[in-house]
Amino acid sequence: MSDLQGKILHILKDGKHHSAASISIKLGIAISIVEKYVMQLKSIGALTSIYGQAEFKLAVSLDLLSKQDITDYLANEGITPDYNIKIFQSLDSTNRYAREQAELSANSGLVVLAEQQTAGRGRRGKNWISPFASNIYMSVVWDFPKGAESTQGLSLAIGVGVRRALLALGIKDVQLKWPNDIFVNNRKLGGILIEIIGAPNGACSVIVGIGVNVSMPDSFGYKIDQDWIDLSQISKAIISRDELCAKLIANIFKILKNFYDIGFPAYLYEWQDADFLKNKVCIINVSHESKTGTVLGVDDRGALRMRLLSGEEQRFVGGEISVRIDK
Ligand code: BTN
Repeated sequence: MSDLQGKILHILKDGKHHSAASISIKLGIAISIVEKYVMQLKSIGALTSIYGQAEFKLAVSLDLLSKQDITDYLANEGITPDYNIKIFQSLDSTNRYAREQAELSANSGLVVLAEQQTAGRGRRGKNWISPFASNIYMSVVWDFPKGAESTQGLSLAIGVGVRRALLALGIKDVQLKWPNDIFVNNRKLGGILIEIIGAPNGACSVIVGIGVNVSMPDSFGYKIDQDWIDLSQISKAIISRDELCAKLIANIFKILKNFYDIGFPAYLYEWQDADFLKNKVCIINVSHESKTGTVLGVDDRGALRMRLLSGEEQRFVGGEISVRIDK
C-alpha cells in the first residue's frame, strides 16, 4: 500500500462520509487520483463500502495502528527506544520482510507490523489468515552472536512473553500449547513462528513472528482449519491494538535481551503453569509417524515429554511436529 493510500485511509478511519473533493483538497491531489486509490483500497479489502461515485465511507471505523501511540504506550512503561518500529498497510508476510532486512544487516530491535498480510506464514507451511486492520501481525528481529544453539527453547520463552502481554491487558486463562500456540477456552488465539538465519555455529539472527487474533471478521474466520478465538470474544472491553503491540514489544524485548544469559530454564515454571496439553492423551506426528501418549510437560530445553502407551518416556524437540488431543 502506498503512502497516499495510507493517508486516505487515515482520513476515512473515523467511519464518516468523506467526499472525493474534500479528500483531494486535504491531500493536495487530483480527485481522479483519490478515486483511483479508493478503488485500490477496496480491492485489498481495506474499504468495505463506497457510496456513489464521489463519496466514500468505511462500514465501520477502523482502529489503525499508530507508531506514535505504540511509542507513547512504551514510554509510559519506561521502555527506552532501542526499538525501530516499521508499520506497513500491507505486506506479503512480516516474517518474510523482517528476514530480508536481517539478511541485509544486523538489525536487533527491528519490529515489523502490518495491517494486512497477503501471504502470512504459519507453522508447518500453513497460511496465516491475516485480514486488514483486524489482528496483530508482528515480527521482531534479534541477533544472537553466539549462534543458533544459544536459542534453544526461545520459541517457548516467547510464548511466555506473549502470555504476559495478554495477562497485563486483563485477558485471563491464557494457556500455551506446545510448542508455540496461544490458547484460551480450548481455542487458538495466536501463534508464534520463529525463523533462524545464519550459520548453525556462527552468529545468527532470529525472526520472531507473532500473530494474535483481535477481531477476526467471520468472512475470514471460516477459512481457518482449526478452532479459533479472538480477543473480541474474550474481553468485554475493547482492546487497543496499539496497546497490545506495546505490551508485546515490552515483554518480548525483555526476554530477547536476557535469553543468552538465562535461557529457557528461567521461564520453565511459568510455562508449566500455562501448559495446555499437560496430562492430556495426545497424538504426535513426527516425520510421517504417529505416536500416542500422555503429555507429562516440557523439560528445561523446551522439549515435550510424553509417556507413550508402551510406558516409555520420550522427548520431542520442535520443528515440523504436530500434536493434537486424542478425542
Ligand atoms: C502458527 O502457525 O501458529 C504460527 C503463526 C505465526 C503468524 C505470524 S503473523 C506475523 C508473522 N508473519 C508471518 O508471516 N507469520 C507470523
